[in-house]
Amino acid sequence: MNKYKILIVANWKMNPGTIEEANKIFLATDRISRNLKNIRLVICPPYIYLSELEALKSRTISLGAQDAFMEKSGSFTGEISPNMLKAEGEKYVIIGHSERRELGETHELISRKVLTSLRAGLKVILCVGERERDGHGEYLSFLRSEIVNSLNKVGKRYINSLIIAYEPIWAIGRGDTASLKPGDLHEITIFIKKILCEIYGPRDGMTVPILYGGSVNFKNAKELVVGGGVKGLLVGRESLRIERFEKLLLSVD
Ligand code: PGA
Repeated sequence: MNKYKILIVANWKMNPGTIEEANKIFLATDRISRNLKNIRLVICPPYIYLSELEALKSRTISLGAQDAFMEKSGSFTGEISPNMLKAEGEKYVIIGHSERRELGETHELISRKVLTSLRAGLKVILCVGERERDGHGEYLSFLRSEIVNSLNKVGKRYINSLIIAYEPIWAIGRGDTASLKPGDLHEITIFIKKILCEIYGPRDGMTVPILYGGSVNFKNAKELVVGGGVKGLLVGRESLRIERFEKLLLSVD
């Protein structure tokens, strides 16, 4: 099923500013990725660059979108459907990133987006994560309800296409400073697996890959993967800084 050892997803967010820069970063990443042995690499650029990057036909990088709408087609001005992404050749889609939840996306909306994307045949990277850590474990109940609600429409038959990215909001975009400790990540990985096993049963629940995201860089990537018990990483800022991204990839490969 998951033949690769490590999954690295690059989330470019609303960057870079032009297609020329996007091409440049993509081609440089493609050159690096040809020498990787254990990593499956996915790049999620802004929608507007997807077709052109797809046309570069990388043999080692898969492309994904940063979001998709909850309907297949219709009168939804400005939206892009998962089916359109699939038709363009995209394989992955990120759903429920905290920066989108921040714009008002609810559990209900996200659960519909997840289902429509899975039905369209995309692999869904569902993002979850608490805003802050309190001393009483409230963040764990928050995380549980986020996972349960976001998946409440998703049956077992889609489980092979589901990936969970744990991204604590407080750790995103902090540069070198505020990443999670590997030991703390390991606890959360076990907690998320337990929830998935409760929903889908132990055999299937254990198969869902769990990623970590939040200020991952070349200095902390390896210890997060090894010590955190995750299947891979969701990398924002550092995926656009090619020399640092190369070091990051080599460190975990
Ligand atoms: P960051 O972003 O690596 O820049 O913290 C991660 C994300 O938001 O996906």
